[in-house]
Amino acid sequence: MVETVEKLSAVKGMADVVPDQSAAWQYIEANIREVMQNYAYTEIRTPILERTQLFKRSIGEVTDIVEKEMFTFPDQNGESLTLRPEGTAGCVRACIEHALLRNQQQQKLWYMGPMFRYEKPQKGRYRQFVQLGVEAFNYPGPDIDAEQLALCARLWKRLGIEHMLELQINSLGDAPSRNAYKKKLIEYFSSNLNKLDEDSKRRLHANPMRILDSKNPEMQELIAAAPVLLEHIDVASKEHFEGLQRDLKALGIKYAINTRIVRGLDYYNRTVFEWVTDKLGSQSAVCAGGRYDSLVGMLQGPETSSVGFAMGLERALLLLQLAKPDLHHTIDCFLICIGSTAEAQRLILAEKIRDQVPHLAMHTYLGSGSLGNLFKKADKSGAQFALIIGDEEVANDSVSIKFLRSEQPQQTVAINAIKSILGDL
Ligand code: HAM
Repeated sequence: MVETVEKLSAVKGMADVVPDQSAAWQYIEANIREVMQNYAYTEIRTPILERTQLFKRSIGEVTDIVEKEMFTFPDQNGESLTLRPEGTAGCVRACIEHALLRNQQQQKLWYMGPMFRYEKPQKGRYRQFVQLGVEAFNYPGPDIDAEQLALCARLWKRLGIEHMLELQINSLGDAPSRNAYKKKLIEYFSSNLNKLDEDSKRRLHANPMRILDSKNPEMQELIAAAPVLLEHIDVASKEHFEGLQRDLKALGIKYAINTRIVRGLDYYNRTVFEWVTDKLGSQSAVCAGGRYDSLVGMLQGPETSSVGFAMGLERALLLLQLAKPDLHHTIDCFLICIGSTAEAQRLILAEKIRDQVPHLAMHTYLGSGSLGNLFKKADKSGAQFALIIGDEEVANDSVSIKFLRSEQPQQTVAINAIKSILGDL
């Protein structure tokens, strides 16, 4: 009997990036690298796997991510490991481990890479997704919060998606005022116990602020009437929030205060923010973050003021595709060698050309054919120029250049002068 073998496919919620899509990815990544340089942030790379305990202690035990969404498994030694659901925890762990925050050392760091959450996949929401993360340590003032938002605004502008994004900000205050508020929240929800769903009942005493995060439509009315944290924050946090708003106004960055932003991770205090869009259905947050001044201390590091954010690259990419639908890989030149002498030398000739124009994107045609047929292929490749080398060109160490996208007449130049025609590609 012939056994049927199941066709293998990618794991649910984990997508391939095929060549047609990789140009847009590279475009966004190149812009990110340049903007990071603009603001003097340096890259940090941390492992994709961390000890499970790290996420439990930093993100919080009673959060959606830790309770339901982590890819966790024991290794061969029985140690519990987790595919990182976000990057802040690993970044902080690495900073402590390498003493990067010793003596109040300031750090401005970024990272980019895959994160993993066991969520229900839909447009803009995946089980493997890429985040750009940006974190600044030992900058206590609101000016760094504002600078990070200016950084985001600059990136949106470079990508041409600024008109699709709105900045929303809020303040969660510091721990004592937040704890007092949590008591008020417990009182409020306790007096409406019959309206709470099971998840919220469970969270009522352990983490009442998570109830505000609930997506359950039947609870939205109750949540809308709950006490507002921003009205209960301490004086220092209020001043910080006012300072941030002053800076944003001075920078001309438009924002709205959204008192309902509480964030789904436990480590935040004071400033929290989200860049949201109405172009991606329910996955509206493209970029989100805030202050987390206690996290480094909580993970046994030195007391360190911290602020950062993460951007979901797939979501930014969906917006980029709306703004710039024509991002595809292109080549500059299509090299055609005609006749047995040129064909025999084409790899060497191509290397000589690349030596002359270092950034050249050139495809060397490796078959043979009639000139007419090869020009058709050159045209189809999308290249700007066809470079032609026949017997005569080989003898003279030259190359003929046909302009495929303009009416200029064909020219023949020495290979070592090709730059004068192709320019600084
Ligand atoms: P977060 O809000 O959990 O924050 O995620 C940040 C962004 O990652 C979201 O706004 C969204 O764009 C993207 N994202 C999250 N989950 C998914 C998913 N399943 N599929 C696609 N995109 C997703 C954090 O992760 C914090 N570490 C941010 C931070 C850094 N706070 C301080 N520093």
